[in-house]
Amino acid sequence: MEPLIVRTEDPLNAEAPLGPLVRSHLTPTPLFFIRNHGAVPAVDADAYRLTLDGDVREPVVLSLRELRDGWPAATVTATLACAGNRRNDQTPVPAGVPWGAGAIGNAVWTGVRLADLLAAAGASDAARHVAFTGLDRPVAEGTAQPFAASIPMAKALSPEVVVAYEMDGEPLAPEHGFPVRVVVPGYIGARSVKWLAGISVRASQSPSFFQLRDYALDGTPLTEQALNSAFSADTGRGYAVGAGGRPVERVEISTDGGRSWTAATLESGGGPWEWRLWSADVDSAGELLVRAWDSAGEGQPETADWNERGYMNNGWFRARLESG
Ligand code: MTE
Repeated sequence: MEPLIVRTEDPLNAEAPLGPLVRSHLTPTPLFFIRNHGAVPAVDADAYRLTLDGDVREPVVLSLRELRDGWPAATVTATLACAGNRRNDQTPVPAGVPWGAGAIGNAVWTGVRLADLLAAAGASDAARHVAFTGLDRPVAEGTAQPFAASIPMAKALSPEVVVAYEMDGEPLAPEHGFPVRVVVPGYIGARSVKWLAGISVRASQSPSFFQLRDYALDGTPLTEQALNSAFSADTGRGYAVGAGGRPVERVEISTDGGRSWTAATLESGGGPWEWRLWSADVDSAGELLVRAWDSAGEGQPETADWNERGYMNNGWFRARLESG
């Protein structure tokens, strides 16, 4: 786990150091953050079965081979980030895994469109939610239970949502969900369930603790990520990621406390679900502020509202520049 900064050992939670992270548009798997709630399950690929049931005409059970061979492969380049990314930048720092700005990564995900699987099973038009259950059994509120989540049907039918068996052209690594995970671009990472055992079409959200209480604020489960950015003073490079499928169009920096802003140089990205890497030449010492703007003209707020979980912290990024 050498390249990652380990935040908790058991379960393993680890994030990328910012300098190496913003070097490449596609995050090398060894640098891709790991967010686990329990132990990584050992899954036998031959014995693996994915179940799709609930409010469907015909429940479906698929082996890994049937999943791979039964539908055209769909590919999406998408940035995944934990809802708690940048938690440490809130004051006071809320409880939870103490994430800096490295609980984020960008990858090419290949699998089957969730919409194709839902069509094959004959998902009811009236059903409002699609729930996912993992094979892991983290302990929550004193009880071992599967990690689970759900997304609204409208999102589940969107073409970017894939039931993925590959990350950057390779089978998923065990810690990233081998053999199959769902990838829900634009949503908080917690909805991209790893070690996917079941998909269920439902009238209501997943009743899971992780859906309704853990990744929720004021009783409202979180869905979309927020527009966000970060900068590595060591490398003069940063990332910026849009929200709701709106790509980042501009990144600005300020070295005078926000009185004046200069456009940074965008270097990669531009797709709806992927981050943009960018660079800026700064030779002054002191504090650097960063803010990104998306294609709808929305910008990051100066300060995000504090919440007790430290979720969705997307206030202007602040980096300390050393002279020389
Ligand atoms: N899926 C399962 N089954 N168990 C988990 O603990 N963690 C979720 C999500 N899917 C989790 C899961 C959270 S909170 C995040 S941010 C992402 O996986 C992290 O994915 P990664 O570890 O591949 O980076």
